[in-house]
Amino acid sequence: MRNTAIGVVLVAAGLTLGGCKKADTGAGTDEIVVGEFVSLTGATASFGQSSDEGVRMAVDEINEAGGVLGKKIKLIIEDDQSKAGEAATVVSRLISRNRVVALLGEVASSRSLEAAPIAQQNKIPMISPSSTNPRVTEIGDHIFRVCFIDPFQGTALAKFALSRGWKRVAILTDVRQDYAVGLTEFFKKFFTEHGGTVVAEQSYSSGDKDFRAQLTSILAAKPEAVLTSGYYNEVGLIASQARELGLNVPLLGGDGWDSPSLVEVAGDAIEGGFMTNHYSSEDTSPVIQNFLEKFRKRYGHDPDALSALGYDSAMILADAMRRAGTTEAGPLRDAIAATRDFPGVTGRITLDENRNASKPAVILTIQNGKFRYVETIEP
Ligand code: PHE
Repeated sequence: MRNTAIGVVLVAAGLTLGGCKKADTGAGTDEIVVGEFVSLTGATASFGQSSDEGVRMAVDEINEAGGVLGKKIKLIIEDDQSKAGEAATVVSRLISRNRVVALLGEVASSRSLEAAPIAQQNKIPMISPSSTNPRVTEIGDHIFRVCFIDPFQGTALAKFALSRGWKRVAILTDVRQDYAVGLTEFFKKFFTEHGGTVVAEQSYSSGDKDFRAQLTSILAAKPEAVLTSGYYNEVGLIASQARELGLNVPLLGGDGWDSPSLVEVAGDAIEGGFMTNHYSSEDTSPVIQNFLEKFRKRYGHDPDALSALGYDSAMILADAMRRAGTTEAGPLRDAIAATRDFPGVTGRITLDENRNASKPAVILTIQNGKFRYVETIEP
């Protein structure tokens, strides 16, 4: 009780002294406060770290070029530790304590789905750089994304498998991730409607370490390829255990494979695997090469798709602020919704009436430990 009373007094004093609503942001009136929530630590730390590198590079570029509407962007970054429940907590805090005008995040669909209702309720525009599950933006009219969605990604992957002549595919899905469950569903739909057969279906949960029982069943079904629908950390182990058991057919996956850790964990076992992704660093277009050069100089390593998408999400937000002429939620929301033909690193970005982006996917293969470009699949 006593603590609460003191807290109220301090907050009230802060408001009176500061004379402004943004008492806790630490920002001056010449700053625009934007919240970013990502998994900087925990199971999918590489997602959050990569995305954050892209976001920070964009914000620094924006600020170095004079900022937006005469103000600098102040980025407040919250780590949700890849933990269920934590994205909701940090987003509530960014909204109520830091009074952010917009949110950038999350990578993983399950965490975006957790945070989006809070952003929507508070009418704070949220842009996910990379959550591909269709339900994310269905939460409400303040929720956007700058990436393609899984009905397209699953279809692209199924088309690719069929184009290679693989008609018998087994599927192993992380049932704890909305992303993985959706990707499997959309892959299966297109694949089975176009002559493919799913010869075995197995599941696991994020955090599992032993996949031998599922892989043994899959081996017995004699597939021509195996879709591992999940994130890089488990996929790395799955790949190693599959090879150990003598399951030597190509592995397929979605963007959830995208992490340098995949190759570190799986080593040779992931060689020859194929995945869908949002961009390829081998693309020779000037936009991508220019981005690569700046990114390498700043961080000393190559950007993955998450960095590119994080970068695009921040740039699109700044562009919308400029077009809105204000950071007030209503007009800002409308300006984000009106994004057309924005020249992103991950392609031209137009947001449709469902606040999603329609963009090509690339197929990459892992060759000598590197993600190599194979082909582009148009929407
Ligand atoms: N699309 C994944 C999801 O929605 C996240 C992801 C995007 C991971 C891009 C890697 C690269 O959960």
